[in-house]
Amino acid sequence: MKYAVLGAAGQLGRDLCPRLAGEVVALTRERADLTRPETVRAALGEIRPGVVVNCAAYNFVDRAESEPEAAFAVNAWGVRQLAPVCRDLGCLLVHFSSDYVFGLDETRSMPYREDDAPGQVNVYGLSKLAGEYLVRSLCPRHLVVRTCGLYGVHGSGGKGTNFVETMLRLAGQGKPLRVVVDQVLTPSYTVDVAAAVVELLRAGQTGLYHLTNTGSCSWHDFAAAIFALSGLRPDLTPTTSAAYGAPARRPAYSALSTEKYHQLRLPPLRPWQEALAAYLQERTKAAAQRSCSGPPNSL
Ligand SMILES: NC(=O)c1ccc[n+]([C@@H]2O[C@H](COP(=O)([O-])OP(=O)(O)OC[C@H]3O[C@@H](n4cnc5c(N)ncnc54)[C@H](OP(=O)(O)O)[C@@H]3O)[C@@H](O)[C@H]2O)c1
Repeated sequence: MKYAVLGAAGQLGRDLCPRLAGEVVALTRERADLTRPETVRAALGEIRPGVVVNCAAYNFVDRAESEPEAAFAVNAWGVRQLAPVCRDLGCLLVHFSSDYVFGLDETRSMPYREDDAPGQVNVYGLSKLAGEYLVRSLCPRHLVVRTCGLYGVHGSGGKGTNFVETMLRLAGQGKPLRVVVDQVLTPSYTVDVAAAVVELLRAGQTGLYHLTNTGSCSWHDFAAAIFALSGLRPDLTPTTSAAYGAPARRPAYSALSTEKYHQLRLPPLRPWQEALAAYLQERTKAAAQRSCSGPPNSL
C-alpha cells in the first residue's frame, strides 16, 4: 500500500509515518499546503497513494479565538479541498479530529461516544467539527479519528513543544505552577494513537473512531503525575479555568470513550499513566542518544 501523509512533520505525523506498512510519502507544508489546494492536488496526483492520512491541522486553540479565518482555512476549507481530491483518486482518507468537538455539557462525567451529539465550545473545536463533516460528506471512503491531549517526543509541529515538556521546563526553572483542575481529559501518547490507527487500517475499518489512552484526569492531575514519575517536587497549585483566564473556553470534561475500538479486540490502548511513564523513558533515551552522537562533523 502507498500512503501519503500530510502534516508529516507534526508530533502525530512523525510517530505515524514509520509505523505504516508500505511505501510512505511524508508531506510537509512546503510540498502540500492545505491553504494552497493546488499544491495538495499536484502532490497527490503525482504520488497516486492508496491512502491519504491528514495529520495537518491548525492547533492554536487560544489564538483561534482572535483569528478564526486562519483556523478555518486549514481545518475546514483546506479539508473541503482535500476530501474531493481523495474521492476522485479513489483513496481512503484518514483524518484526525479533536475532543474539543464536545464540551457544551457542563454536567458531563461519562466519556463521549462516537454517536454522541457534538457541541463545540470554542472556535478551534468548531473548525475541527466542520472538517469532520466535510470529510464525511465529500469522501465516501474515510476514517475519522478523534483524539485528545496529544503529546509525543517530537513535540507539536506548530507549538514546538508539548504539555509534558512545558511542565518539566517550568519546574526546572523553579517557577511556581498553577494548573487547572476543572478540565478533565485523557492525555494521549502519539505513539499509542499511531499504533491504534495502524491496527484500524490493518482491520479495514472506516467511519468514525475515538482513539486515546484510557482513563481520565484533570490537567492538574496530569502535571502532578509528570512530576511524581520524574522525581520532581515543584510548587504546583490547582487553579480554575476562570482564574486562569485563557482566551478560549475549554470543556470541563472531554474524555472520549474508546469502547468502539476495544470491541474490535485489537491490541488495547494502555492507561494514560502507563503511556506517560513510557513517554518519559523514551525522552530520556532520546536525550542520551543526542548527547552520545556529539556535535556534527565539520569539514
Ligand atoms: N495536539 C493535541 O493535543 C490534539 C488533540 C486532539 C486532536 N488533535 C488533532 O490531531 C492531529 C495531529 O495533531 P498534532 O498534535 O500532531 O499536530 P502538530 O504537531 O501541531 O502538527 C500539525 C502539522 O500540521 C502542519 N500544518 C499546519 N498548517 C498546515 C497547512 N496549511 N498545510 C499543511 N500542513 C500544515 C504543521 O506544519 P508546520 O510544522 O509547518 O507548522 C504541523 O507539522 C490534528 O488533526 C489535531 O487537530 C491534536
